Formats: sequence, C-alpha cells, structure tokens
Amino acid sequence: MRWAQAMGKATVANVGCGFDVLGFSVDCLYDVVTIKRCSDFQGVKLKVLNNKKVPNDPDKNTAGFAVKEYLKLFQIQGDGLFVELDKRLPLGSGLGSSAASSVAALLAVNAIYDNLATKEELFNIGLRCEQLACGSAHGDNIAPSLYGGVILIRHSNPMKVIPIPIPEELYCLLIHPEVEVNTQDARAVLPKSVPLSLAVKQWSNIGALITGFCLKDKKLIRDSLNDYLIEEERAAFIPHFYEMKDIAYKSNTFNLSISGSGPTVFSFSDSYDKLLNEKEKIEKLLEATGISCQTYLSRLNNKGSYVQSMGE
Ligand code: HSE
Repeated sequence: MRWAQAMGKATVANVGCGFDVLGFSVDCLYDVVTIKRCSDFQGVKLKVLNNKKVPNDPDKNTAGFAVKEYLKLFQIQGDGLFVELDKRLPLGSGLGSSAASSVAALLAVNAIYDNLATKEELFNIGLRCEQLACGSAHGDNIAPSLYGGVILIRHSNPMKVIPIPIPEELYCLLIHPEVEVNTQDARAVLPKSVPLSLAVKQWSNIGALITGFCLKDKKLIRDSLNDYLIEEERAAFIPHFYEMKDIAYKSNTFNLSISGSGPTVFSFSDSYDKLLNEKEKIEKLLEATGISCQTYLSRLNNKGSYVQSMGE
C-alpha cells in the first residue's frame, strides 16, 4: 500500500504592514500528515492525533477537506485514503495552524498520485481550505507554508504568489502567549473601510518593506514594518500587547507586530542578542501576570513544507 508523510510549516501572515498580502514560513513549528492508500474502503477517513478539539470529520478539517478537494480536481474515484493528522501546532495561535494542516495533506496526497498537481493547483485548493477554516480565502499562510520564505500575494484573479528574497542574518523572535484567538473573530473587528491617508502610509510601507528585503537593506526593513490599519483593533485580543511592544522598542529590535490574527507576536532583528534580551523580558512580564507562553528564536528560513518520507 502506497503511503506518504509530509510536514506543513507554521507561518507568520501579514508581516506587520501587509494584511492579507505578505507572509513568511517558520522552520521550527509544523503539523505532520501521513496518508495511506487502502483497499478495504473507499473515500477519505481522517484520524487526528494530539488534539481532541480538531474534528475527525474530513469535511470539517482542513487536512481531510484538502484531500477530498484534490481527489475531486483530478476526478479520482474508488480509492480509499486514510489520513492521519498529527496536530502539533496550537489552534487559534496566529501561526497558520489550519494552513499547515492543509499544506501537509496536499503535499502527501500529491506524492501518492505522482505529483499530478502543480504548486499553483495546490495553492488554489489551499485557499478553499482557508475559506472552510475561517470564512476567508486569504493566501498569506498557505503560500509561505507551501513555497517557503517571504511571499507576496498579488490579489489578482487567480491570486499570484510572488517569492521575495530573504536577507541573511535576519533573526525572528516568536512569542505565543497561551490564549486562543479565533481568526474569524479577529477579522470581524476590522474596519470595513480605511481613510485614504492611512492607506497611503500603509502601501508605502509595504513597497518599502519588499524593497528592503530585495536590497538586503535592514534599516529600510526596520523602518517599514509598522501597520496603520489592523493592529489597534487586534491588540485588544492580546494580553499585554503594548507592554511587549515597549520592551521590543527598549531592546532596540526592529519591531513587535502581530503574527496573523494573533495572539502570537513577532520581532525581527539582525542581532540575536537583542532578540534574546527582548525574549527574556517578555517571558518575565507574562510569567508575572500568570500567562504561559512559548517562545522561538531562529533565523528566517527559505524552506517551505515538504514530503519527508514515502513508501509502497
Ligand atoms: N491575513 C490573515 C489575517 C491571516 O490577518 O486575518 C490569518 O492567519
């Protein structure tokens, strides 16, 4: 029986100023999906390990839904696929947990069927999975998880995935305070329209941030990460957001911004030591107020999700 196992990487969507258009992949956090082709049943069965909140119904889970959409696209009928989702990423964390599950499932099922689908086709299925998970087909988690690195999503029809080069020597600190934020709720609080003056500031930052990445200009990156459109509304979901931001400012790192819809926050710097100092201070702050957190400090990485093993 053919089987394949893939990991789906966590992601940081928005990257400060790029709501729904920018994201990058995170190397150290992922979900794992194993798919086995079986002859004793037809259709898709799903088993979720490590998280009782995630439904085993393949229509209600992005890993199962992704596999069913894949079979539909290629009109594959009569096969039985057993999907096992090892759910390692926390739910409602702002780390692209639903996208990580669907990307891992898509890579595994594509390996089983000898890579029938292109990455663009997998991306498009992934967008439908995001629609299922949070009512919005944004691509800024799916694309970086699938392609790796920093990605710009052009909102054309179809959406276009544009990889952006990553400067070496850029480190990223992630802090995940253990509270759950539902993406749908965090989208519902956002303004339906924004003043033109703020939109101008925002798109000047997005242009400058991408230019900073391309030119490896760390000062330009540092100066362009600010968001003017969504942070204020979402900060309310994140305990001690402004105190954490103040610590980042005093630690002289580039920023402290919300990862996706939160509560995870991230900071960039070209100095590992400055981020380490920020990490220790924020851990102390959260600990003193009774909030558990997980922290991760590493280089930015270019590698996206991948099939780690397969067999017959
Ligand atoms: N761009 C999306 C948002 C990402 O901010 O709502 C959600 O993970």
